[in-house]
Amino acid sequence: MRGLDGKAVVITGAAGGFGSALARRFGEEGCAVGLMDMNADGVAALAEELSGAGVTAHSYVTDITDYEAVVAAVADFHGKAGSVDVLVNNAGFDQFSIFLESEPALWDKIISINLKGAINLHHACLKIMAEQKSGRVINIASDAGRVGSTGEGVYSACKGGLIAFSKTMAREMARSGVLVNCVAPGPADTALFHNFIGDDEAGQKVRVSLERAIPLRRIAQPDDLPGIVAFLASEDASYITGQVISVSGGLTMAG
Ligand SMILES: NC(=O)c1ccc[n+]([C@@H]2O[C@H](COP(=O)([O-])OP(=O)(O)OC[C@H]3O[C@@H](n4cnc5c(N)ncnc54)[C@H](O)[C@@H]3O)[C@@H](O)[C@H]2O)c1
Repeated sequence: MRGLDGKAVVITGAAGGFGSALARRFGEEGCAVGLMDMNADGVAALAEELSGAGVTAHSYVTDITDYEAVVAAVADFHGKAGSVDVLVNNAGFDQFSIFLESEPALWDKIISINLKGAINLHHACLKIMAEQKSGRVINIASDAGRVGSTGEGVYSACKGGLIAFSKTMAREMARSGVLVNCVAPGPADTALFHNFIGDDEAGQKVRVSLERAIPLRRIAQPDDLPGIVAFLASEDASYITGQVISVSGGLTMAG
């Protein structure tokens, strides 16, 4: 990808399925990566793997719902890398729940991670990007936020909210040279999806019926995501902002 070599990239949820694939791709593109996750062992192992491959990688055991912790981690990465060029808001959490059977404690958890966490990261990184007069934000939303999804009511609200927030940030930050876009995955083979459908017989049936419904006839793999994210962070995407792109094998074809 053009213009990525030497960029400093913050990735949240870096220890997860999509997050680690994204971190490896940005490392391959010659970027320095700031890896943020609550999973201390996972993020340390990834940083070690990437450092061993010659990538500049800093890891942060940070809960993205904690604003002060996010600001401190971003400031540390900024100090070490010298800039914050790209933010990938990827951390997320989901749990199957029919809305009328769910409780406020679960809503609070889903909202604080999927929406408030991403807002915290925007606040910390956009200030730096505005001073730099350049930056890219790629928010990992979900097709649930575009078309809805049974069992994911509050999660869908968060992802729809993240899409709306991204469009507002795209407008507010355009004159500062900061571009903000969303990528909306469909079902993907990661821990989040396995927790959501369950690994029992019923979960397998859900998986098979999804594979039948997806035009490309398979669930996404983590490596299906980094290409579009790297593109949106690159010089080739310098006239694209406020957009949402689905990576769902054609399951959804939102206009
Ligand atoms: N897997 C899917 O089917 C699917 C579909 C659509 C969208 N997504 C989105 O993709 C993104 C990545 O999810 P994934 O599928 O790789 O799941 P995953 O569970 O493999 O990874 C999520 C990562 O986020 C981290 N995380 C969770 N809460 C955190 C917090 N408070 N602070 C810091 N880190 C935290 C977890 O430790 C984990 O490493 C999420 O935003 C998710 O909503 C996933």
